[in-house]
Amino acid sequence: MAFEMNYVLPVDQTGWKIDGQGEANLRWDYDVGREGLLSLYDKGKAQQWDAKERIDWSIPLGEENPLGLSDEGIAIYGTPIWERMTAAERARTRKALQSWQTSQFLHGEQGALVCAAKIVQQVPMVDAKYYAATQVIDEARHVEAFARLLREKLGNAFPINPPLKALLNDVVGAKDWDYVYLGMQVLIEGLALAVFQRVRDQAENKLAASLHAYVMQDESRHVAFGRMALRDVYPQMTEAERAQREEFLIQGCYLMRDRFLGEEVWAYLGLPVKECMEASKRSDGMRAFRSRLFARIVPTVRDIGLWGPKVQTAFADMGVMEFASVDLEPLFQRDDARAREFDGQRQAS
Ligand SMILES: [Fe+2]
Ligand SMILES: [Fe+2]
Repeated sequence: MAFEMNYVLPVDQTGWKIDGQGEANLRWDYDVGREGLLSLYDKGKAQQWDAKERIDWSIPLGEENPLGLSDEGIAIYGTPIWERMTAAERARTRKALQSWQTSQFLHGEQGALVCAAKIVQQVPMVDAKYYAATQVIDEARHVEAFARLLREKLGNAFPINPPLKALLNDVVGAKDWDYVYLGMQVLIEGLALAVFQRVRDQAENKLAASLHAYVMQDESRHVAFGRMALRDVYPQMTEAERAQREEFLIQGCYLMRDRFLGEEVWAYLGLPVKECMEASKRSDGMRAFRSRLFARIVPTVRDIGLWGPKVQTAFADMGVMEFASVDLEPLFQRDDARAREFDGQRQAS
């Protein structure tokens, strides 16, 4: 029987089509391969895994707190709204927020799947097509894993959040292939890594923590791919072309930082939406979290050469310039090591 996702809010019945422009690019110089990209491709092939096998789906989620995340990460934690809630209401809030977040991961992963396929088609260099092909199967696996977590374990799903939809629309619909990389590989996957990391490192539930660790192991390769591919491209562009990319990036960063506030989940819970969104904007914990979202984006952006005064001013305004000097390599190595630790724990049990 075909599964149906149980959406808690009305979802578009007709799906969503984007008029993705762009050309298909075929080239015959098969011998031209950049060493870095080819070794990433080898890694992509060697690190394939099966979501059915590697994740222990027999582990149940918690009743009161499905993924076992701390309440400090809830935007309204400590506010009068939270203090007034009964234990049952708090449990319902945790579950809705976790289902909402997981749903956004799922929809973002489908966006990534489409983007990776688009890169295969549009990117001119064969070595990049090779790598992007491994990313296509990675993203399909991520969609599979998050969909199963929602369907079998959390029980409910939310439709795509409007700001995320707006960003995906621009990324998937972009005419030039470098925008697909910039929007997906650098911005969306960079943000996703920061949010996944919170679940991987804090979730008490082992199924949730390991699933996010395994997805992160792939995602950090994807960010490395975007970085490698764009580093060769942006320095060759004219200043005007780079300025357009910088503008796109800045808008995307503000959109995700300021509007990704879960309006629909507060409404679903019957809570005062405005108050909850205000609390989310004001809360020290959420502000710190929103800055950390950029921990991987800022050094990547600097590295690929989109480092004009407008970008630097925007990052300074967001209070995230401290990340400019972050060395990404140890973070990527840690993503890999953490995933292996979960494998080790499962073998030992
Ligand atoms: Fe992914
Ligand atoms: Fe990815």
